[in-house]
Amino acid sequence: MFITFEGVEGCGKSTQSSLLKGALEKDGKSVILTREPGGTDIGVEIRNIILHSTIDFTHEYSELLLFYVDRLEHVKRVIEPALKEGKIVLCDRYIDSTIAYQVFGRGMSRDVVDRLSSIVNLTPDKTILFDLNVEEGIRRAKKRADLDRFEKEELAFHERVREGYLDQAQKHPHRMTKIDVDGKNIGDIHTDVKKILGLS
Ligand code: TYD
Repeated sequence: MFITFEGVEGCGKSTQSSLLKGALEKDGKSVILTREPGGTDIGVEIRNIILHSTIDFTHEYSELLLFYVDRLEHVKRVIEPALKEGKIVLCDRYIDSTIAYQVFGRGMSRDVVDRLSSIVNLTPDKTILFDLNVEEGIRRAKKRADLDRFEKEELAFHERVREGYLDQAQKHPHRMTKIDVDGKNIGDIHTDVKKILGLS
C-alpha cells in the first residue's frame, strides 16, 4: 500500500504522517515514512538545491526537472523496493505536489508534468489532502526555521496551490480524500486519517 500526504505549507501533514506510522507499527505493520523532495541521498542534495540555493533558475523547466530526478530515484531506490517487500509506504508529498505547485502555482504545462509522471509510472493507492486556509498555513510555516524558496512566495501563489489540490481531489475522488483541518486538533485529524484508511 502506497499512501501519500499532501497540502499547502503548514497544513500538518508531516505531524500526521508520523502519527500514522506509529499507529500502524503498533498494529504490527511494517511501514516506511519517506518524503519528496529528499527521500534518497541524491534527493537530499537535490532538495537543498531546489529549496535553499540562492541561485535563481534561468529556464522555467529547471526546477520541475529537478523534482523529477528526485522522484525517479526515490521511486526506484526506496518506494518500489519497499512495496515489493510488502511494506506500507507513507510519503510526505508526491506527484500531486507538482500539479499543485508547478502547474497551478507556477503556471507550468500540465501536459509536460503528465508526461514526466508517466515515466515515473507509480500512482498512490490513497492520498490524503490536508486542506487549510492558506494564511493560517503560512503563519505556521513562518514560526519554523528559515523560509525556503516556496514559503517565500506571495499569498496568491499559495492560493493557486490550494486550488490545484482541490481540483485534483475533485478529479480523483476515489484515490484522494480531503480533510478540512482548519481549527481541528491533532488528535481529531489523526482519527480522521485512520477512518479514511479503514483503521478504526
Ligand atoms: P516540504 O518538505 O513539505 O517542506 P517543509 O518541510 O518546509 O514543510 O516541501 C518542500 C517544498 O517543495 C514545499 O514548499 C512544496 C515544494 N514542492 C513542489 O513545489 N513540487 C513538488 O513536486 C514537491 C514534491 C514539493
